[in-house]
Amino acid sequence: MAVEERDSHSGYLTTGHEWNGIKELNRPVPWPVWFFLFAAFLFSLVWWVLMPAWPIGETYTHGILEVDQRKTVTEKLIAARARQEEVLSRIATLDFAEIRNDAELMSYAVQTGQTLFGDNCAVCHGTSATGGPGYPDLVDQAWLWGGEDEDIAETIRVGINADHPDSRISQMMAFGRDGLLESTDISDVVSYVRTISGQADEDDRRLGDALRGKDIFADNCASCHGEEGHGETDFGAPDLTDGFWIYGGDRQSVRETVFKGRTGHMPSWEGRFEPHTIRILTLYLRHLGENRE
Ligand code: HEC
Ligand code: HEC
Repeated sequence: MAVEERDSHSGYLTTGHEWNGIKELNRPVPWPVWFFLFAAFLFSLVWWVLMPAWPIGETYTHGILEVDQRKTVTEKLIAARARQEEVLSRIATLDFAEIRNDAELMSYAVQTGQTLFGDNCAVCHGTSATGGPGYPDLVDQAWLWGGEDEDIAETIRVGINADHPDSRISQMMAFGRDGLLESTDISDVVSYVRTISGQADEDDRRLGDALRGKDIFADNCASCHGEEGHGETDFGAPDLTDGFWIYGGDRQSVRETVFKGRTGHMPSWEGRFEPHTIRILTLYLRHLGENRE
């Protein structure tokens, strides 16, 4: 048997274990350890009685508080759905201005709108709605069919050159291919379009006579694009002076537009979307336009 050794400093016996000269004192277990051990034991007894705890075959002890997380989740889901339905019905019925003044509705519309746009519209208009050749930029504030809420919602509802009975109809005829204008007339009017859009360069002056083009424009184009070329939302005819182009504003693209014509197709969404969905997309697009960099 080991000889008992007493630590001269603290007065406790040592356990006889020693690590590199450090000896372990043989002290009683400190009271806080006992305290927490008992407290934890008591707590678990109480917990077993109150809460679901022990499995018994197919079932389990439910606990007298009857806490059931599945029930809680179901209740929360039902509440969330009811809340969502209320939000949607307000979006469907309130004025656009009223919706815009309601931070909760707006944040819902912007969030949902982003997902809806990504899933349905981004293939053509791009994920940030800035369009690409043949597909208009929807955040540039240059609207073919008008930029008020009702205009945008209507465009989304009926589409453009779509199979909806109320579809917006948009057609830029093929002045060259269909022989409506001579080749020189086209060159002249293209130079004119390049001039009013502030882009005329050496080529435009060399390849066409913008002054002659002005008359050709007045006779052939102004009925849709307006005397000054500022466009006409009744016909979906774009403003040719604002620097925003669907098909491109370089000489080659403008020439191609006038020669071959353009007929953009935008699907109608009425059958696919609830009215509130169309309103959410409208709010989303205008929000993007107002907050673009
Ligand atoms: C298949 C391609 C395609 C898809 C998908 C599409 N669009 Fe379009 N959209 C177009 C084209 C093309 C135009 C322009 C038509 C024209 O040039 O006249 C257009 C025009 C528009 C306009 C009118 C722009 C203006 O200046 O007046 C709005 C608004 C619009 N789209 C919104 C949407 C929304 C919202 C979605 C999704 C729900 C969507 N589009 C999905 C092709 C598409
Ligand atoms: C019947 C009405 C109409 C007439 C007439 C017309 N346009 Fe257009 N023009 C349109 C429409 C509508 C569009 C948009 C087509 C689309 O996006 O699908 C368009 C598009 C254009 C574009 C493309 C703009 C862009 O953003 O890329 C140019 C350029 C243009 N027109 C020039 C002319 C010129 C020049 C003439 C005369 C020689 C003319 N248009 C006559 C209706 C017309």
